[in-house]
Amino acid sequence: MRNLNQHTITKAVIERLADTQDERLKEIMTSLVQHLHAFAREVELTEDEWFKGIQYLTATGQMCDDKRQEFILLSDVLGLSMLTVAMNNDKPAGCTEATVFGPFHVDGAPHYADGDDVANGAAGIPCRVRGTVKGLNGEPVAGAVIEVWQADAQGNYDVQYPGLDEPQARGVLKSGPDGRFHFRTIVAEAYPIPSDGTVGELLRATGRHPWRPAHLHFMIKAPRYETLVTHVFRKGDQYLDSDAVFGVRESLVGDWLAQPDGSYTLDFDFVLNPGK
Ligand code: BEZ
Ligand code: FE
Repeated sequence: MRNLNQHTITKAVIERLADTQDERLKEIMTSLVQHLHAFAREVELTEDEWFKGIQYLTATGQMCDDKRQEFILLSDVLGLSMLTVAMNNDKPAGCTEATVFGPFHVDGAPHYADGDDVANGAAGIPCRVRGTVKGLNGEPVAGAVIEVWQADAQGNYDVQYPGLDEPQARGVLKSGPDGRFHFRTIVAEAYPIPSDGTVGELLRATGRHPWRPAHLHFMIKAPRYETLVTHVFRKGDQYLDSDAVFGVRESLVGDWLAQPDGSYTLDFDFVLNPGK
């Protein structure tokens, strides 16, 4: 095929995909080419702009290593991560909603017993978290594996401190026979997502702030139920309506209550979706 022009090239590229063995790959690539070409036409992309885009993606890739995933962060601030979560976690009414996983989960977090302090020295205001893991009919889910992780009072996760060699403000617990769990930690505070890379550059260029409202991450696993990846957000946080990664859902907002001794409590129940 020769003499392709701006009106005929899209069809030619799509036809070139005809021999793709994997049907799903063919569907995805066909749609990607269509949308990519439509985008270039819509904005009347110049050659300079095309090259700036290539340079931006190259720099984004160069920021990635085993501790930093700038492409996921880019997907997060463009709302693609949350869109994918929302499309793939359409649960029955009454189930706890899912939200983004985020980059700060670490495999192999320490295991704790009911009532233990998962802060393990992390700076912050002491806080007790209590709740029940239930199924959709209100049945308690015993022995659910509950992973929690959060930032400290400075808005940093333990993995963001280069010299720190033990996990802080993260841990794994199990719900009791009645589905209840209870642990001590520190109060979650709002924090900015990493903005010293290409994602930060994009946020500044588009007049956006990098803040996430205060939240506590949970991942809850139990046999015969779908794994739940979610957060509990802190009621009253100033960033609830402008989360940098679009992860807030009203049903996930919890009330951290101040106690007379200066500590806080959070009570929050989780409802798991029965497995498919
Ligand atoms: C987080 O909540 O840990 C997070 C999520 C998306 C991007 C950056 C941080
Ligand atoms: Fe987080």
